[in-house]
Amino acid sequence: MGKFLSELISEPMISEWLSAATLIDDLFPRAHSDRQRHSFFPHHSLAVRSILDICEVNSVKFFSANLDSLRKLYIDQLQQLHSAETQITDALPKMIDAATEPQLKQALQTHLQETEGHVSRLEQILNQAKGSVDSKKCKGVAALIDEGEAVIKDATDDSVRDAGIIAAAQKVEHYEIAAYGTVRTWAQILGESSQARLLEQTLNEEKHADAVLNSIAETANTKADKAA
Ligand SMILES: [Fe+2]
Ligand SMILES: [Fe+2]
Repeated sequence: MGKFLSELISEPMISEWLSAATLIDDLFPRAHSDRQRHSFFPHHSLAVRSILDICEVNSVKFFSANLDSLRKLYIDQLQQLHSAETQITDALPKMIDAATEPQLKQALQTHLQETEGHVSRLEQILNQAKGSVDSKKCKGVAALIDEGEAVIKDATDDSVRDAGIIAAAQKVEHYEIAAYGTVRTWAQILGESSQARLLEQTLNEEKHADAVLNSIAETANTKADKAA
């Protein structure tokens, strides 16, 4: 399907559409989360996604990040983390609604508030390091969130759903722990000590969230084992 479409759509057409999309992004630089973008420009988002899918199928590289230094790689990873955190901010309320165990709901609610702080810290760092945020879609966390949403949809027992939500949330926490550990270390190497401290704070909150979920899992898994 992608290949057939790509034969119908010429490169100048794609360039023109992407220019229009860039113009919209320039006009609304603060509309950084997928949810916000979608509410402003539902058709724009769909069109751009389709175009980028076609580009990917054909291995056409319109944008090259040109990662030829650790500093560029550091900023690239921070931009992806910003996307990850905004996606998590959108996903957590659905997980809180779907959870049954009050302790689990509370832990996810607390981490939602922390996650909003993680977005703010990344914006502070990116504004300082680059002068803008320019989020880059994090496909890893998008896939983990999709997995979690499928479990929520498919679980037919409350305690089994809770166990599935904990598993999905911990996968995301481990992704974040790996990513923040890396960018914190790169910030230290690059001499960005204040940025390293901010990233370390977030890293510690991710580790704490994971530990809290571990303790809730002890009883939640036992309850799930008694289901059906
Ligand atoms: Fe986070
Ligand atoms: Fe987290």
